[in-house]
Amino acid sequence: MSKRILITGGAGFIGSHLVKLMVNKYPDYTIFNLDALTYAGNLENLTSVEKAPNYKFIKGDINDAPFLEELFKTHDFDGVIHLAAESHVDRSIKDPLSFIKTNIVGTLNLLHAAKNNWGDFAGKRFYHVSTDEVYGTLGETGLFTEETSYDPRSPYSASKASSDHLVRAYYHTFDFPIVISNCSNNYGPYQFPEKLLPLFINNIKQNKELPVYGDGKYTRDWLWVEDHARAIDVIYHEGKNGETYNIGGHNEWKNIDIINLLIKIMDELLGREAGTSNALIKYVTDRPGHDRRYAIDAQKLQDELGWVPSLQMEEGLRLTAEWYLANSEWMDNVTSGSYQKYYDNQYADR
Ligand code: NAD
Ligand code: TYD
Repeated sequence: MSKRILITGGAGFIGSHLVKLMVNKYPDYTIFNLDALTYAGNLENLTSVEKAPNYKFIKGDINDAPFLEELFKTHDFDGVIHLAAESHVDRSIKDPLSFIKTNIVGTLNLLHAAKNNWGDFAGKRFYHVSTDEVYGTLGETGLFTEETSYDPRSPYSASKASSDHLVRAYYHTFDFPIVISNCSNNYGPYQFPEKLLPLFINNIKQNKELPVYGDGKYTRDWLWVEDHARAIDVIYHEGKNGETYNIGGHNEWKNIDIINLLIKIMDELLGREAGTSNALIKYVTDRPGHDRRYAIDAQKLQDELGWVPSLQMEEGLRLTAEWYLANSEWMDNVTSGSYQKYYDNQYADR
């Protein structure tokens, strides 16, 4: 059956993988990509589908409520998959307001426009893509489940938690058909080099310092980005209204361990003697409020919808490193312009 789906943030890292998956997998659907093209949005991520007849790009800002109202009036979308957000914790510490605007008010604007224009909601679905960071931080043991209480601790995670609450409030108050997923740290091609792995890949290549925050023993659960896109597809089509699904890779790594593995792979790919780039590691001042450990229990998604991650970290990290080295033009483009200013502002005083 043909559907008209609005994906927001489709020019970003995860959104671009999702757009490509949906455009290729569902030729009968029309996939609309609404994106403001902030520093994190890049149409180069989408060149493989830009001419596809079932793909349409719309430049626009979810902070612009009248624009959204008009958009929903003129297009009878069957569903929304909402990814547009400010997404980087370090930026949220320096500039929280833009996170509040886009992640909270922007999400409310979208909910409002959809609810106003979707009649009795029959056949409609609003899917909100969120993060495991809303659950706060874990000690040495335990996993986040869908029942874990919210305890966000950075401006980023607080803004995502707030948007999750608004989406659920629309379900309870208006019977509005929503579904939410909370996912762990993604990695793979097309990620902006402010996040740990693409930043370090770029720095290793350029023989620049690798700024490891604090003691480097912070733990993240890493997921191959295409596995996340696959999970979103399954949840969008088969998830139950009002439900939350956790998505994770069963793939916990301490930062320093994943950095050492990355160095091993990069030295090999760059033809350097093994261990050469270890000298680039520099322990720097910690991130304020740094969450110690994230780890996801994704059993519900596996049991109810049959999703499991596909790639092991060693394989995924190698594919990732190879992709960035083979796509140096992409990296050069996204690090031109204001990137150096961002980098100096973020790292000069650490
Ligand atoms: P990203 O920063 O790479 O991309 C965000 C996209 O949203 C960009 O294309 C940007 O131009 C667009 N955007 C930002 N503000 C906008 C606005 N006001 N109006 C319209 N478009 C706007 O982010 P990402 O890493 O791809 O994350 C996508 C979503 O997934 C976010 O909601 C994030 O919270 C969530 N998430 C990310 C991760 C992760 O590891 N990256 C993990 C779990 C959940
Ligand atoms: P990041 O990629 O920013 O994702 P998040 O904070 O959303 O988990 O960071 C991943 C981990 O790497 C986190 O523990 C912070 C750490 N980190 C560094 O040690 N140095 C860096 O320069 C960056 C960007 C992150």
